[in-house]
Amino acid sequence: MGLVDGYFGAVSADQATRAVHRALDLGITLFDTADSYGAGAGEERLGAALAGRRDGVLLASKVGLVANHSAAGRVVDGRPEHVRAGVEASLGRLRTDVIDLYQLHRVDPQVPVEETVGAMATLVAEGKVRYLGVSEVTPQQLRRAAAVHPLVSVQSEYSLFERGVEAGILAECDRLGAALIAFAPLGKGLLTGRLQSVTGFADSDLRSRLPRFGGDHLRHNQQLAATLGELARALDITSGQLALAWLLSRSALVLPIPGSTSSDHLAENAAASDIDLPAEVLVRIDAVLAADPVSGDRYPEDWRLPGG
Ligand SMILES: NC(=O)c1ccc[n+]([C@@H]2O[C@H](COP(=O)([O-])OP(=O)(O)OC[C@H]3O[C@@H](n4cnc5c(N)ncnc54)[C@H](OP(=O)(O)O)[C@@H]3O)[C@@H](O)[C@H]2O)c1
Repeated sequence: MGLVDGYFGAVSADQATRAVHRALDLGITLFDTADSYGAGAGEERLGAALAGRRDGVLLASKVGLVANHSAAGRVVDGRPEHVRAGVEASLGRLRTDVIDLYQLHRVDPQVPVEETVGAMATLVAEGKVRYLGVSEVTPQQLRRAAAVHPLVSVQSEYSLFERGVEAGILAECDRLGAALIAFAPLGKGLLTGRLQSVTGFADSDLRSRLPRFGGDHLRHNQQLAATLGELARALDITSGQLALAWLLSRSALVLPIPGSTSSDHLAENAAASDIDLPAEVLVRIDAVLAADPVSGDRYPEDWRLPGG
């Protein structure tokens, strides 16, 4: 998502290519994008960077969320004709003839999820995509979607700061044998400790619209990040590594997808896959979060979709 507009400002095409190449060199094989990231530019940059290095990569993209914050507000489109046109455009931008994992970015409240996933299933039959997944669904939407075609993944926000999937989605993934692709595993940067002295965000920064990143909520959550950071320091690992290792400890089905365009951060994040957190630290983390939960809603009211 951050290959065009990162949380910390615009990203150049060169920087995006370097980040993808660095990730490949570190052994990272799963790359997640969407047709809405940078209005298609995210897919274009990823496709260009993967040229000649596509083999062995699990390429994931998404369709169905047209814009997060346009003049018309949040725009979703789950109509079959949108899916069909969307995949052709994504294949072109990604410079590939097949997308490994094609995900429904958001369920369209105006279109039965069965119709959208039914259209996606025809793309599997035609060889344009290999596997299907969904993103940010309720357990009920997930069951309805999975009844149409097997789903290999559910993508949802999941981190030390956002554990909503533990209320039902994770159990449903377990039942289906589907991976839980954990997005924003670093709490959009907050869990790395690098936002400790920030007091607000520019209008252009998505986080300026998120309740959790403003005012008293932000101050509270910075304090929580500091407490978690102390646990990391005691283990001689970074705050971000604690956040990623914690996710990996939850279940073999949980796949964190941290976003980064920094060579050093990519290496640091990749190294988290070798960290086993001691049982007593996992208990301590639960105690910290139970005593002092994250403050503020994840999304503003107008971003919430019916049933989502
Ligand atoms: N399905 C959905 O609706 C949805 C929604 C949001 C995101 N996503 C997916 O999830 C991916 C990740 O989510 P995200 O980017 O929102 O949040 P994130 O991974 O929690 O945080 C990314 C931010 O953390 C910084 N960062 C990464 N590693 C760091 C480190 N070791 N130390 C300090 N800072 C570090 C990055 O900056 P640097 O570039 O400077 O490292 C970036 O600003 C996206 O790329 C996208 O593919 C999906």
